[in-house]
Amino acid sequence: MSNKRVLSGMQPSGKLHLGNWLGALKNWVKLQHEYESFFFIADWHALSTNYEDTSRIRENVFEMAVDWVAAGLDPEKSVIFLQSGVLEHAELHVLLSMMTPVSWLERNPTYKDQQQQITGRDLATYGFLGYPVLQAADILIYRANCIPVGIDQLPHLELTREICRRFNTFYGDVFPEPQPLLAETAKVPGLDGRKMSKSYGNTINLSDTPEEIRQKVMTMVTDPQRIKRTDVGNPEVCGVYSFHKIFSSKDEQAEVAEGCRTAGIGCIDCKKRLLANLMAELTPIQEKRNELVAAPDKIRAILDDGAGRARKAAQETMQAVRESMKLYV
Ligand code: TRP
Ligand code: SF4
Repeated sequence: MSNKRVLSGMQPSGKLHLGNWLGALKNWVKLQHEYESFFFIADWHALSTNYEDTSRIRENVFEMAVDWVAAGLDPEKSVIFLQSGVLEHAELHVLLSMMTPVSWLERNPTYKDQQQQITGRDLATYGFLGYPVLQAADILIYRANCIPVGIDQLPHLELTREICRRFNTFYGDVFPEPQPLLAETAKVPGLDGRKMSKSYGNTINLSDTPEEIRQKVMTMVTDPQRIKRTDVGNPEVCGVYSFHKIFSSKDEQAEVAEGCRTAGIGCIDCKKRLLANLMAELTPIQEKRNELVAAPDKIRAILDDGAGRARKAAQETMQAVRESMKLYV
């Protein structure tokens, strides 16, 4: 067990799909055995782009917490909490905002990108510009060392590091500089071959019923050149085979690939084999999930307990921050 601290967060987007699970969560589940770990649901960050209609946020937080625990985040091992449950994040955010140059925020690539991509919402807001300052507060308040994130988050993490150095230069070494932890994660394509994404409607969700998953797998796009059962196929251009590479044993992958290339196996059989392997991994998660959905008090208790433990760590840091800044203590 390393004495370093790991921290990461996710915006509550609702039910998680296989891409979220394999791309992030599965790695967190592993990390919790190696580091002191903090994982939180970034509900304030969700408001930066969804401030008008907040009608689903509570439900989304609940669904996300259920998925996390069902997938193996263990509240005994990790501190699992909701950002808005630890008010100290807001205090540190306000202090960091005083010393963060606006130019740093304006040149953040995701700021301009998202403003262009997300249409129909006014994102010329103070909170949206300050998104990375809040993220810096989330990280620094736990004096976290390692931040498991995807490459899309690297600019935000670099800003956190710059803010960290600026603070330490002005007031003394309070915060360690956090490092990104880029994991090698499996990339699952969506059902249509594009990236798996909620906005494309091409996902398999952890919460889908076995019947829904069966239907999704059986209608997946295959090698478009393989039309008849007697046509030979190319597994390397087939989405089903990409899934085999993640969920099937090496032997079975080889068998399926050979069968595809020689028309020895049909696509329906190929999909059935994938489905069996996929369900073998998902069934335990789904069973846990069903238990948790039926016990919402349990989820609430996990988040409350997590917030209590997170708050204790955050308050310790804030005491050091106030002292170093010569504020009222
Ligand atoms: N911005 C992150 C995302 O969209 C979520 C996030 C908020 C986060 N605060 C964080 C991630 C702190 C890591 C650390 O995915
Ligand atoms: Fe894809 Fe399998 Fe059909 Fe080959 S046999 S095209 S790998 S579904």
